[in-house]
Amino acid sequence: MVLGFWRFLGAAFAATLLLHGSCSSDEAIPTRTYSFMRNATLAPLVSYYDYIVIGGGTAGCPLAATLSQNASVLLLERGGSPYGNPNITDLEAFGAPLSDLSLSSPSQRFISEDGVINARARVLGGASCLNAGFYSRAAPEYVRDVGWNRKLVNESYAWVERLVAFEPKIQQWQSAVRDGLLEIGVVPNNGFTYDHISGTKVGGTIFDQLGRRHTAADLLEYANPKGVTVLLYASVHKILFKRKGTPRPVAHGVVFRDSTGAKHRAYLSQGPKNEIIVSAGALGSPQLLMLSGLGPKAHLQAHNISLVVDQPMVGQGMSDNPMNAVFVPSPIPVEVSLIQVVGITHFGSFIEAASGENFGGGSPTKDYGMFSPKIGQLATVPPKQRTPEALAKAIEDMNGLDKAAFQGGFILEKIMGPVSTGHLELRSRDPNDNPSVTFNYFQEPEDLRRCVEGISTIERVVDSKAFANFKYDAMSFESLLNLTVSSPVNLLPRHRNTTTSVEQFCRDSVMTIWHYHGGCQVGMVVDSEYRVLGVDALRVIDGSTFNHSPGTNPQATVMMLGRYMGVKILSERLTSEES
Ligand SMILES: Cc1cc2nc3c(=O)[nH]c(=O)nc-3n(C[C@H](O)[C@H](O)[C@H](O)COP(=O)(O)OP(=O)(O)OC[C@H]3O[C@@H](n4cnc5c(N)ncnc54)[C@H](O)[C@@H]3O)c2cc1C
Ligand SMILES: *[C@@H]1O[C@H](CO)[C@@H](O)[C@H](O)[C@H]1NC(C)=O
Ligand SMILES: *[C@@H]1O[C@H](CO)[C@@H](O)[C@H](O)[C@H]1NC(C)=O
Ligand SMILES: *[C@@H]1O[C@H](CO)[C@@H](O)[C@H](O)[C@H]1NC(C)=O
Ligand SMILES: *[C@@H]1O[C@H](CO)[C@@H](O)[C@H](O)[C@H]1NC(C)=O
Ligand SMILES: *[C@@H]1O[C@H](CO)[C@@H](O)[C@H](O)[C@H]1NC(C)=O
Ligand SMILES: *[C@@H]1O[C@H](CO)[C@@H](O)[C@H](O)[C@H]1NC(C)=O
Ligand SMILES: *[C@@H]1O[C@H](CO)[C@@H](O)[C@H](O)[C@H]1NC(C)=O
Repeated sequence: MVLGFWRFLGAAFAATLLLHGSCSSDEAIPTRTYSFMRNATLAPLVSYYDYIVIGGGTAGCPLAATLSQNASVLLLERGGSPYGNPNITDLEAFGAPLSDLSLSSPSQRFISEDGVINARARVLGGASCLNAGFYSRAAPEYVRDVGWNRKLVNESYAWVERLVAFEPKIQQWQSAVRDGLLEIGVVPNNGFTYDHISGTKVGGTIFDQLGRRHTAADLLEYANPKGVTVLLYASVHKILFKRKGTPRPVAHGVVFRDSTGAKHRAYLSQGPKNEIIVSAGALGSPQLLMLSGLGPKAHLQAHNISLVVDQPMVGQGMSDNPMNAVFVPSPIPVEVSLIQVVGITHFGSFIEAASGENFGGGSPTKDYGMFSPKIGQLATVPPKQRTPEALAKAIEDMNGLDKAAFQGGFILEKIMGPVSTGHLELRSRDPNDNPSVTFNYFQEPEDLRRCVEGISTIERVVDSKAFANFKYDAMSFESLLNLTVSSPVNLLPRHRNTTTSVEQFCRDSVMTIWHYHGGCQVGMVVDSEYRVLGVDALRVIDGSTFNHSPGTNPQATVMMLGRYMGVKILSERLTSEES
């Protein structure tokens, strides 16, 4: 019986999760328009603002909303509005945008040179419109090490949380994971909290009780409508610098194109404190700096980009936290859940989990879970073998599965940091093209050690008494790592040997949890106030500035940083006006 069951599982690496809230999907989708938001085709050819924010993402929206309180702000976003799109709003549709490869999709797929398939946002609200919703603050030690003002950090998190963070409802499968973590010693039980504390907790979520997503775009509710203009489908091609009469190049404008390809220019109005702020994300920000002439000299020359400042560190320090997951088939039905419980271990591995069934059994609208090959997750073959053909085959195999194959859940581990880093380079001068990016997963032994310990922690959770109802007795953990039927769910290398094989499992089955960051790091490309080194009137504020991914998951801190820096920049502005 068990063997027959395995046949089903075979193809579904992905045993996808059907995600749904307690509302039915045909209820009206809440929609919203802001009086200050418009299609970039309607923008004048030339305009002037105190601040120009490039990228209306997870950091850019709270930043622009804050600055608009006391200054005029232009927010330029290459994508459209998230409102009224059920693919974004409904928890159930997680993955629908990630599998939509059209140019109008809110998600743009990219594949790193490592071979791992990944995604970046193209929509107002940025990746907060695509993500799994888990909301959790950075550790106090992280805040201390970065050197942020702790009081303002707390106030900024609270400002974000008032509009977009919620407590999830925990059901039986997530409870079993939580109790399993506690039973094996990932203690204490910290209950429900946004805080990052060692032990086991239930974190926040940006999905409300109806399963509706709230995003960074909602933070624009805080904006002063008279102080802000948000342009959609406004793709920034270049930051403009002037140099006459100043010791260093000064950023003073941008060139952007609307959806018809027409060129517009926006400039900073007169004022010593006015600035351009790049919040285009970990791929977009280093890419745009390079396209504007800030980057490694030889690389820019090779692309015929005229050099503004030779800045070899732009695009360096790119990292993506590796994610490895184990699918645990369950003999009894489980609830549908996304990340809710997290085990914060002392060795730098975070244990998270997601459960659910694919009731659609290949239905085109229902199999978009967090581990579905439809969204680019493919752990049945090592990264370098994740060809379009391999992906297509995995999707086909999954579509052939019976729904019984999807009963169960994934327990995953993400490592902190990571220590391994890579780099980003331009492929072309088109800002809409993906740059080439290399993350070097597990290059540093420390990262691999954390993965191995993480997998062994997952093993102990699966074997715990608390989890006993949700796994088949007859299945050893080793067999869970080695689900080789037509194509394996998880992948264990052939030469199993207690130490080396789990390491190989880590390397071969690595996926992304989409927490990639770096490229404009503090101390390398920007100073501690996020000002770009070597030029004036230009900052970068987003996940590209991180040395390490904050907390267990980054979005809370990215939104916090937008608010935090908005408050700091405004207070500097107001102080200088008084003096
Ligand atoms: C599928 C997925 C699941 C995730 N799950 C979680 C989770 O559960 N919890 C969590 O905490 N984190 C999660 N994350 C990570 C988190 O969402 C991101 O780290 C964070 O949102 C990044 O914010 P950012 O502001 O740096 O970039 P983004 O939010 O990507 O913002 C960049 C914005 O700039 C725009 N842009 C780029 N270039 C240009 C240009 N040239 N001109 C104009 N606009 C431009 C983009 O369209 C985008 O809107 C997930 C991410 C993804 C993709
Ligand atoms: C923006 O406006 C232009 C011109 O009216 C139109 O062609 C385009 O479709 C609009 N874009 C969107 C996505 O609404
Ligand atoms: C800044 O804006 C806030 C809110 O609009 C207002 O209360 C405050 O007076 C303004 N400060 C200055 C110096 O204009
Ligand atoms: C929603 O996602 C599906 C599947 O990717 C896609 O076909 C559809 O066009 C999307 N709808 C919207 C409104 O973006
Ligand atoms: C900030 O919040 C954290 C936890 O929420 C708390 O431990 C800390 O004392 C607070 N710090 C300040 C300076 O308020
Ligand atoms: C750069 O310019 C040279 C000379 O005009 C041209 O031959 C070369 O193809 C260009 N390279 C790129 C990458 O555009
Ligand atoms: C993995 O599964 C295959 C096929 O079922 C089997 O031949 C092999 O011995 C298993 N390997 C380990 C290490 O369990
Ligand atoms: C596992 O492999 C490593 C490296 O190849 C070797 O040093 C070790 O002795 C092996 N262990 C066992 C139990 O075979």
